[in-house]
Amino acid sequence: MLDAYAETGEAMRASSETIGGQDASHDHVAEFVNVTKRFGSIVAADRLNLGIRRGEFLSFLGPSGCGKTTALRMLAGFEQPSEGTIRINRSDMSAMPSYQRPVNMVFQHYALFPHMTVAQNVGYGLRQRRPRMAKTEIGQRVTKALNTVRLGDFSERRTWELSGGQQQRVALARAIINEPAILLLDEPMAALDAKLRAEMQRELLDLQRSLGITFVLVTHDQEEALSMSDRICIMGGGQIAQVGSPDELYDRPASRYVADFVGKANILLGEVVARQGGQAKVVLGCGSEVLVSEASVDNRHNVEVIIRPEALGMSAAPQNGTAALRARVTHRTFLGDHTEYRLQVEKTGALQVNLTRQAERALGGRGVGDDVYVLWEDGAGLILGAED
Ligand SMILES: Nc1ncnc2c1ncn2[C@@H]1O[C@H](COP(=O)(O)OP(=O)(O)OP(=O)(O)O)[C@@H](O)[C@H]1O
Ligand SMILES: [Mg+2]
Repeated sequence: MLDAYAETGEAMRASSETIGGQDASHDHVAEFVNVTKRFGSIVAADRLNLGIRRGEFLSFLGPSGCGKTTALRMLAGFEQPSEGTIRINRSDMSAMPSYQRPVNMVFQHYALFPHMTVAQNVGYGLRQRRPRMAKTEIGQRVTKALNTVRLGDFSERRTWELSGGQQQRVALARAIINEPAILLLDEPMAALDAKLRAEMQRELLDLQRSLGITFVLVTHDQEEALSMSDRICIMGGGQIAQVGSPDELYDRPASRYVADFVGKANILLGEVVARQGGQAKVVLGCGSEVLVSEASVDNRHNVEVIIRPEALGMSAAPQNGTAALRARVTHRTFLGDHTEYRLQVEKTGALQVNLTRQAERALGGRGVGDDVYVLWEDGAGLILGAED
C-alpha cells in the first residue's frame, strides 16, 4: 500500500494515517513514512510519519536529545533510517546520496571554510559540480546569493573578519545558491545574542517568502517556533507528539506533554459530572463546577483540564453567572504589558492568571496575601486527551 501511495490519489487518501494524520491532499515536498533510526540500543527516531508541505515553514520543536537533528540528518542523507522510507518529491531516497538530494543544510556553527573568502565559500558547491559550471555563471549566482542576504559588499572578506550574524548569512547564502527544494536549518541562531537572533528570525522569514522554498527549522526555543512557523512538529523521546499550526497546538494540545511544552498551562484534575454538545461540566478539587470544552469525546470520568493563564479572570468578589474559585495570591510579577499572578486554590493547587493592565485596574489593587476569586468563563479550558 505504501508504494501505491505515491502512485494514485485514491491510495494517498486511503493512507493518510500513514503520514501522521496529516491531510494527504496536500502537495508534500517530503515524507517520512514509518521512519525509525537506532544508534545501538538508542532509538533516536521512533516510527516517524510526517508529510512536509511544499513551501511551508515547518519547525521541529522538542527538548534536547528528542531526535530533532537525527530527523533532519536523515532528510539530508547524512544518516540512513534503520527502518521506513524517506521520500523527497515523491522519490524514495534510500539509494540517493546526500549530495544528489535537492536539499541543503545550515549547521549551528555554520561550518565555513576559514581559508576562503566569503565569495569562495558561497560558490564552493557550484565549483564542485560536474560537468563544470562556467566561471561567469558561478560569479553571477554568488553575487545574487550574497545580495539576497545583504552581504553584497563583503564578498572579498575572510570569514573570520565577519561578525556572528554576518557569518550566519554567509552560511545561508551558501545553502540557497543551489536553489534547493528544502532548506534545512539546525538551530542556526543558537550562537547569536537575543537582539541579533530576533533580527535574523525576521530575515529568515523574509527570505523564505521571497524564495518560496520549504524551510525546515530545528529549535528548542518555543517562542522561535511559535512566531516563525506555519506548522510545528512537537517531538518527545524520538516520537512525534503532535503536528499543527501554532494556534492549533496552543489552543488544542493533544496531550499534557504538548500543553506543557507550548506556552504556559494550568493543568487541573477534575471529575466529569455531565456532558453536552462538546462541553463537559467538571467538578474541580476545590468543589467549584466549571464548563469546559472537550477535544475528544470519550467516557472518562476523571480528567485533566488545561486552561491558559490569560483565559482566566480575577475579581475581588464572586460574580453572578461566572464560575469562580476562591484563591489566595502568593506572587505578583509585573511584566509591563501584563501581570502574572500566582495563586493558591485550596484542594486544587497552584494556578497562574495573567491579567492585562486594564483587567488589573478593574480588579482594584490586590497583592500577595489577599483573597480573590478566579473567574472561569463557560467553555474556557479544554479536557486533555488520555495519554497512552
Ligand atoms: N551518531 C550518533 N551515535 C549515537 N547516538 C546518537 C548519534 N546521534 C544522535 N544520537 C542519540 O540520539 C538521540 C537523539 O539525538 P539528536 O541529536 O537527534 O537530538 P536533538 O533533538 O537534536 O537534541 P539537541 O536539542 O540537544 O540538539 C540522543 O539520545 C543522541 O545521544
Ligand atoms: Mg540537535
